[in-house]
Amino acid sequence: MSRYLISGGRVVDPASGRDGHADVLIAEGVVAGVAERIDAPDAERIDASGAVVAPAFVDMHAHLREPGREDEETIASASAAAACGGYSAICAMPNTDPVADSASVVEKVWRAGRAVGLVEVVAAGALSRNLEGHKLADLGEMAMSPARVRLFTDDGNGVQNSLLARRAMEYLAGFDAIYAEHCEDAALAAGGQMHEGERASVLGLRGIPAEAEEIMAARDIALAKLTGCRLHLLHVSTAGTVELVRRAKAEGAAVTAEATPHHFTLTDAALDGYDPNAKVNPPLRTGADRAAIVAGLADGTIDAIATDHAPHAPEEKDQELTYAPPGIAGLETALGLTITELVAPGHLTLMQAVARLASTPASILGLDGHGGPLAPGAPANVVVFDPHGSVTVDPARWASTARNTPFAGRVLTGRVLHTFFGGSETARDGAPLGAAVDA
Ligand code: DOR
Repeated sequence: MSRYLISGGRVVDPASGRDGHADVLIAEGVVAGVAERIDAPDAERIDASGAVVAPAFVDMHAHLREPGREDEETIASASAAAACGGYSAICAMPNTDPVADSASVVEKVWRAGRAVGLVEVVAAGALSRNLEGHKLADLGEMAMSPARVRLFTDDGNGVQNSLLARRAMEYLAGFDAIYAEHCEDAALAAGGQMHEGERASVLGLRGIPAEAEEIMAARDIALAKLTGCRLHLLHVSTAGTVELVRRAKAEGAAVTAEATPHHFTLTDAALDGYDPNAKVNPPLRTGADRAAIVAGLADGTIDAIATDHAPHAPEEKDQELTYAPPGIAGLETALGLTITELVAPGHLTLMQAVARLASTPASILGLDGHGGPLAPGAPANVVVFDPHGSVTVDPARWASTARNTPFAGRVLTGRVLHTFFGGSETARDGAPLGAAVDA
């Protein structure tokens, strides 16, 4: 196995609190040393001067589309995209075909991820059978399968039945698993194409009110308090939800939350040209909602930045807005948007940004070896990025099969230079490298 000496970079490692210049030696798959100066003439030297060396990122929320829609993305192509984006672990959402609602499907996803070997693919399990919201899925069997599922969600759908939500939480609390909600009241959101507000009226499109999200977030927080279950709110999009999470945390509830780069970057103004690439669920909201998400990321109310990477086939996405499916592919733009929108304007420090991208999601998921600390003996899951380098978003060059992004052509600050997974280099300057680990 190769040895690498990453020299002269700024090590930013929230789990150890280290922020300063140091050399990092990677050998035998682990971090072999972090010190002001390391001599390792036999190692491949990577000059990281001007760059940041950090724990590789962990995405709590990605749609890999396999099994079922391998034309849109595969576990292999999503893994390559993740490596290019600086990730060492991604959590695969269960809305596949078949749905990941049984031990056999989650195990298949997990094994396929290991066979590709570019990132750790963490399988999420469905809460309800076939995501229908009627009967609980095989939660315990998925948790005890080799895939060791820790996060359960019907993402894509909110759980409409409050009794089912309660029962799922009671059950999951028994093994300290996470109930993760796509907060959306289906009746309030029905037929909606974008955020309900002035812009939707002007565009003549049916809206999804903020309350469709907030009502379910409030219900779930109440149920989490009742049951003692860990609750994670997916892709928070409204100021009201941010406030609900802030209050719940102040009261000591076991609630965590994530926000996506598109929700902290864009508003519903992105729909002005009826661009189907800006159609996403939950929808892009107002400037006030966006500002509340940024503030929530800054003060830690929102724990994690998650991509909600949602690849769609061009023939489906390139339709009139009303017919196009919702979703934005985000694995290869997350760092650039985080630096450009959050760090460069001074909303987050680099340390906070790395915490939201890497260490906090790793600790929520209980992913040992990911998210740092970058300490001797820890698996070498490491990213090197240039916080000042610029990249023009060009989906045609992505490792992902997907091309659906509203950011094409945008120049972003923040460039991933090297990603290491288990001590192997998995991507270099936007291009994936060969598979690393045995199946
Ligand atoms: O926009 C979205 N697309 N939101 C979701 O929750 C699901 C996702 C998908 O699967 O395409």
